[in-house]
Amino acid sequence: MGEGQQGDPVRRVGVIGLGFIGRVHLAGLRNIGVEVHAYDVLPDLRTRAVEEYGATEHTSLESILGAVDVVDICTPTDTHAEIAFAAAAVGKPVISEKPLARTNDQAEQIVRTFREAGLPLHVAQVVRFFPEYAAAQRTIAAGKIGRTSVVRLTREGGVPKWSTWLTNATRSGGLILDVMIHDIDYARWIAGDVVRVWAKQFRPTGDDQVLSHAYAILTHVDGAISHITASWAREGAGFRTSFEIAGSEGLLSYATDEHVPVRFAPPELAVSGSGLPPITLDEDPYTTELREFLPAIAGGPTPRVTAEDGAAAVAISLAAIESSETGRAVELPVPDQPYLGSAPALETAS
Ligand SMILES: NC(=O)c1ccc[n+]([C@@H]2O[C@H](COP(=O)([O-])OP(=O)(O)OC[C@H]3O[C@@H](n4cnc5c(N)ncnc54)[C@H](O)[C@@H]3O)[C@@H](O)[C@H]2O)c1
Repeated sequence: MGEGQQGDPVRRVGVIGLGFIGRVHLAGLRNIGVEVHAYDVLPDLRTRAVEEYGATEHTSLESILGAVDVVDICTPTDTHAEIAFAAAAVGKPVISEKPLARTNDQAEQIVRTFREAGLPLHVAQVVRFFPEYAAAQRTIAAGKIGRTSVVRLTREGGVPKWSTWLTNATRSGGLILDVMIHDIDYARWIAGDVVRVWAKQFRPTGDDQVLSHAYAILTHVDGAISHITASWAREGAGFRTSFEIAGSEGLLSYATDEHVPVRFAPPELAVSGSGLPPITLDEDPYTTELREFLPAIAGGPTPRVTAEDGAAAVAISLAAIESSETGRAVELPVPDQPYLGSAPALETAS
């Protein structure tokens, strides 16, 4: 399916992994109105997907891969690669939850495999679809704050308790690869490719990440810097995110705990599942991202986040983990044609 050629719309999507985020994807796909198929290794979750989301149940990977037009990977991070390769082997486009993969080798190989096969691959870096974050990016792209110079991003909550693999750093990559990656991707989107990372992490490894907390400084290719904080040390105080983006001509700031325009009671009304950032009355961003990916798979416009962006976010996150372990900054290679961020290029003197 060539990009730019409008093909048949996607009819059947198979969600693999029906836990916390898999159910959010099921809800989004139902909102869009496509036929939903579901597979998880746990039979109870398959039954729930049938009863709550009207999904067609599959009891094996092979069965769901054979029944759908698009595969939506919502399993633990260290299983993304094997499922993506299985989908590619039978010619199925993939939407993958972030992080695209657990390692750089896997992420690069996934991107290469799909590119060489001409198969669409989309990575659900959902922060780009949150209305306030998307609006800030549009403002920057319109040149309204000038050149992006200093970016401060935070994402803080309690320790995730719904699944034990999340706090097992070997499987999830821990706080940086699981949580900070959201803001790493956003920082790169607005401020450009990252050439250096320094990071510090409290309680980085092992199976007991209670009160894990991480801080990273990214140096972007044009010298802008991003300060990013991610935390599982905000137990009992709710989940919050914030941004402060300083440009040469203005500043944009936002914090979920200061600006919640609509309060939902019970909170689950806002989006299925607690522990996600609060949202406005706009469409929830998990539906919006799927609404952008599915037409792209059918040959429509390229979405705001690409597979390469997903792999870049993994590379920067893993560099941050390395820095936190060694205490030294990690340099990242500068691409031949670096991505300079969302702001319009500065006019050069002729
Ligand atoms: N975008 C976001 O805001 C967001 C939020 C949470 C999680 N995530 C990402 O989504 C992924 C899943 O996280 P989660 O919190 O939903 O985890 P989870 O543990 O709640 O759900 C994962 C599900 O996958 C199933 N599973 C495991 N291995 C499988 C396999 N080989 N085949 C089929 N099913 C399998 C498990 O039984 C479980 O039900 C992770 O990569 C995570 O980083 C993204």
